[in-house]
Amino acid sequence: MNPRDFRCRSVSKAFAAVDRPSGRSKRGEAVTLVVLLVLALAAVSTGPVPATEDSAEPNFASDVGPLFHAKCGSCHRPNGIAPMSLLEYKSTRPWARSIKREVASRGMPPFGARGGDHAFRNDISLSDEEIHVIVSWVDAGAPEGDSTLLPEPPDYEALARAGLPEPDLVLAHDETWEVPPGADQQRAFVIHNEFDHDLWIEGIDWDQRSNVVHHMFLFVDPSGLARKFEQEDPLPGFLGSVDGGAGTDKMMRIFLGGGDGIGGWAPGAQPLFYGEGIGQRIAAGTDFLLQYHYYNQSEETQVHRPRIALYLKDEPPKRKLEIEGPTLAPAKLFLPAGDPYVQSVADWIAPGDLEVLAVMPHMHNLGKDMIVTAHYPDGKVETLLDVPNFDPYWQTVYEYERRVFLPKGTRVHMVAHHDNSADNPLQLHDPPRDVRFGERADDEMVNASVFYALVDETTEWSGSLGDVITTPEQLEESRKRKP
Ligand code: HEC
Repeated sequence: MNPRDFRCRSVSKAFAAVDRPSGRSKRGEAVTLVVLLVLALAAVSTGPVPATEDSAEPNFASDVGPLFHAKCGSCHRPNGIAPMSLLEYKSTRPWARSIKREVASRGMPPFGARGGDHAFRNDISLSDEEIHVIVSWVDAGAPEGDSTLLPEPPDYEALARAGLPEPDLVLAHDETWEVPPGADQQRAFVIHNEFDHDLWIEGIDWDQRSNVVHHMFLFVDPSGLARKFEQEDPLPGFLGSVDGGAGTDKMMRIFLGGGDGIGGWAPGAQPLFYGEGIGQRIAAGTDFLLQYHYYNQSEETQVHRPRIALYLKDEPPKRKLEIEGPTLAPAKLFLPAGDPYVQSVADWIAPGDLEVLAVMPHMHNLGKDMIVTAHYPDGKVETLLDVPNFDPYWQTVYEYERRVFLPKGTRVHMVAHHDNSADNPLQLHDPPRDVRFGERADDEMVNASVFYALVDETTEWSGSLGDVITTPEQLEESRKRKP
């Protein structure tokens, strides 16, 4: 094992269902709405009869509000994880200029991948048409329109669990954690695994209906170190971080002891099902470690109980989820002080015929962009991931809509850049310093993890990574498929 890989290895193994919208149907509605809008706008601009101002300009009540309900509300709602609610005109209006800037630059919603040859099932980005509607609305003075036309926002909490089967196992910590107003905290909690047999996980529900969890990762700890750290800490849990800074050392030691990430969650994310035939093994006696980044935007102290819910298989699955990462990492990383453009490259050769479920890029503050391409044995080249404006604040796992098949010998190639100049707004040093590989927030990293399952003769193609279940019909379907 290469020591440089430890921290990332484990962070990136966190198979996060990060940044997913609150359901397929909702997304569907948003798309329909926008298509209609765009058609309307197109008709206005190309039609022979000039339209009235009113019909040409989008307004909040009938155009932008419903779009925000669908695309922003999982985070931007009263007491949500984001700083302001975008569900109503009044709370949205003061942010109009900032909204235009954020959506036009594609900073919001937080989803960094663009283009590429394979769609992502957790893609919450706006289409060009949606961006056009929002920008035109702001440019027109952000009018409200007829407020009676604004639909009720969805019940986001209910939506997050709608139609889901009951989990087989709910694991809750026996203590709660208080998050005071304005807090930005890292905390890790151990859940003792008392089972005397292995568990095979086929899906994870994060059970985070909280508005103070910015994101969380689920790790397993076979070493018992996490228990020890928790015992030593007088407060519930212990200070354990995977984002750099204080607490990173403890997590590192856990990873060195064989700790692994197996999942992660951010607001709006749906539970993750690996898909038919694929499972994740948890060895008997291996503890669960829940690592949280808390962020309290509300005026009150919020009390949170760390908890996850698992869907289990009775039998070992046919195929094991391989998350041996980071799959792509350069041998060395050195960023000279002031250098605005440092390139890193890495390659990985598919060890067998396999299906890729997801890719996760990882860098710290100075990371600017990353592109991952697949070079097939027949010479064809495809883009697996293109993140042109990397945002270190949102460490997203990009999950493919359909698993990507890579024949044995396919070369997966990563190219990434860092900016260590004074002009980088996320630069932590004034003046810039030489930066090397490391775990601290002001050290740097660069890698991409590929989450895959090897194909063998027993493999049945199920099309997608897993199932987002949002209707009772889908639930029935998924139950029928259970072995
Ligand atoms: C997955 C959660 C999430 C979604 C979805 C989301 N946001 Fe955000 N947004 C945040 C958080 C958290 C912040 C606070 C800053 C940060 O974390 O980047 C934020 C910040 C912002 C800001 C900047 C506020 C400032 O300080 O200037 C704007 C504007 C914004 N969001 C607009 C939107 C819009 C418009 C949408 C939907 C089209 C959206 N966001 C979707 C989580 C989200």
